[in-house]
Order: sequence, then C-alpha cells, then structure tokens
Amino acid sequence: MLAALPIADPDPLWALISAFRQDRRTDKIDLVVGVYRDASGQTPVMQAVQDAEARLASAAASKSYRALSGNLAFNDGMSRLLLGDEAEALDRQCTIQTVGGTGALRILADFIALVSPRATVWNTNPGYVNHRPIMAAAGLTVRAFRWQENETGLDLDAVVADLEEASRGDVVLLHGCCHNPTGIDPTSGQWRRLAMLCKERGLIPLIDMAYQGFGDGIEQDAAGLRHFAQELDTMLVAASCSKNMGLYCERTGAAMVIAPERNLLGNIRATLERITRANYSMPPEHGAAIAAHLFESPGMWLSELEASRRRVAEVRRDLTAALARCGAPETFQALRRQKGMFSLLPLDQRQMGRLREDFSVYGTANGRINIAGLLPGDVERLAEALRAVSSSPYLVHARAG
Ligand SMILES: Cc1ncc(COP(=O)(O)O)c(C=O)c1O
Repeated sequence: MLAALPIADPDPLWALISAFRQDRRTDKIDLVVGVYRDASGQTPVMQAVQDAEARLASAAASKSYRALSGNLAFNDGMSRLLLGDEAEALDRQCTIQTVGGTGALRILADFIALVSPRATVWNTNPGYVNHRPIMAAAGLTVRAFRWQENETGLDLDAVVADLEEASRGDVVLLHGCCHNPTGIDPTSGQWRRLAMLCKERGLIPLIDMAYQGFGDGIEQDAAGLRHFAQELDTMLVAASCSKNMGLYCERTGAAMVIAPERNLLGNIRATLERITRANYSMPPEHGAAIAAHLFESPGMWLSELEASRRRVAEVRRDLTAALARCGAPETFQALRRQKGMFSLLPLDQRQMGRLREDFSVYGTANGRINIAGLLPGDVERLAEALRAVSSSPYLVHARAG
C-alpha cells in the first residue's frame, strides 16, 4: 500500500516558518505567520478569554458528548454576530459549530458537493492559499476570478468580467472583510453590485468571514455580508473565531446556510450533521464555550479586539509614512487603504527572496506580509528594505551578484 504513496511536498508556509526559526540573524522580522501580534510581538490570550476560561474551570461542567451541531449558545451568538440582532435572515438560517474556519469551509464544500456536485466554485485570484485545496478535496471544480486594485481600490469591472463565465448555481467564494492576502475590500457600493450580480445570475455566495473586527470594526466589517443576506435567498457563510477572539488553537468556527424558506432548515441541519458525523462527529467544546461567554458579556472582548484593530491600522499608517519618507515607489502607498492583517507587496518572488536573504525580512514568496507581525521598532528598517529591493539598480546589482 505505502509503495504507492505519492510524494507530498511540505506546506510552503510552514517551511518558511521553520526557515525563519532556524535563521540566526538577531534582527530578523517575521511577517509570514497569520496571527495577530501586539506591539511587543506577543500573541496574547485576551483577558476576556482568560476570564471566561476561569469561569468555565470553576463551573466544571460535565465533559459528556454535546449536540452534533456543537454548542447551541455559541451557534446562536455566531449567527447574531454575523447577521446582526435584527436581521430577517436569522429566521431562515441554520448555523453549526465547526472545527475552526477551515472546518466550516470544508463542511460547506462537502455540502455543496452533495447538493450541487456540478457547481464550480469561483475563487479570488490572488486568494487565500487554502481555499482551492479545501474545495478541491470535496471534489469540486475551482476557477479563479481577478481580485486586484485599479487606481482607487478594488477593480470591480475585472471581477464582473471574469464572472461572466460563471453558470447559474455556481458558487462565488468571497472574503467577508480583510481579504487574505491582498487586504483589498469592496466598498459598500461594490458589495451592492456584487450582490446584484449574484442575484441576477443565480450565483450562490459563499462568504468566508475570518477577520470580523480587524477591518473597520465588528459591525462595519459585516456590512457586506449583511447586505447579501438581505438580498439573496440562499447563501453560505464560513466564520472563524481564530483571529477576533484569539482562539487559534482551540479550533472554533461556524458554518451557516441561509435558505429561502424556514421549512427547509430541519433538513439542512440534518444534512450538515450527517456530514460532520461522518467526519469528526462533533466539534470540541472548549473554544465555543469561551465564545458563548464572550457573547453573553461582550464589553471587554470587544474593547480588546478594538485595540488590536487600531494597532493594525497604526502599523499601516506608520509603515506607509516611513515608505514615503525614504522614497519608496508610490505603489506601496496602497498599503494604507488596504484592510486587516494582510497585504500583498508589489514585489515578485526574486525580490521577496532578496528581502529574506539580504534583509532578514520574511514574507511569503507571492509577496504577502502580515502587517500585524511588524513591531514598532522595525518599521523604518522594513521601509528601507522595501525601498532597496524595489529599486532597479539594486536588482541589477543583486542579479549580477
Ligand atoms: C481567509 C481565511 N479563511 C479561513 C481561515 C481559517 O481559519 P481557522 O484558523 O479558523 O481555520 C483563514 C486563516 O488564516 C483565512 O485567512
């Protein structure tokens, strides 16, 4: 059996992380890992989470099996966080707890493959590195549409032109906010146009909400998703609590299916539960129990999240100011208007290699950097390194060397 095992390359992201760890230079800068870091470089456990954990520990609730859909209070809280307390769509949605945002994507991919196996999933290009593999693992065909900026922001004409080829029933995978890897988000007018496009063409939106709270605010970041839920009969949502609650390793997320009619919900739930049952049966309780506490009294959590959001915005502001001061190309200024933890630098693979080798700055080969990984003391050095690798004399010199 094992003689037929194909060679699997190590995950390139984890390979970079390991190269960073082995790098002995003391001034190295890690902008690879997709986790939030505070100004001292830590990924702290939020105080609100610690308090919830203390309460859970003292309550010592039984560890007996929970429902197949997971923690029901969590599911209710997630549906409200995503859709808003007053949403009409709350009455025609089914939400289950999943193993992180990744689990939500995979459960929904299996759901699509079951009910609509011939649907193509349309994925942004550039896109989140794991979207295509997850959809493909469920047997779905994946195609790409452009996600890039023109002079002012997202080039929606390119999106619309590429989606011309999508057929009725195809799925359009959108990022709810803080697009990974580009940081390019639609304006509210563009969200409206995208919703109209899906409605008119019979396309099913799948919105991946992995960074709610890291763009413009917890409510503001859901505005596009909420508009879609208002306008469309049917849509799918994958959500993650990894970033906005800092619950990365607790693997806490949710999958939501919004249906045209309430009477479909029982069957949708049974189908989602059948999919999870044949996979991991039911999700782990701990992260969802913490989140349910945060939903009950959200004050401290939301202010801690707001502080993280502000830090990311400040890093964007300080970095672009430093880039302007040192004379780096104007194209870098787009980093200022982009949203969330990630941006895609206007650099090619060779330039990213130079950043790593000559300046000990680690981003991914396609140019993605984690803005939240940058410490205040490293801003000037990063700006200077970016200026250096993007200047042509440096490239000529580097090529010759
Ligand atoms: C766009 C996007 N979706 C989903 C995920 C997965 O989130 P989780 O860690 O909760 O599985 C990530 C994580 O980086 C992401 O960036």
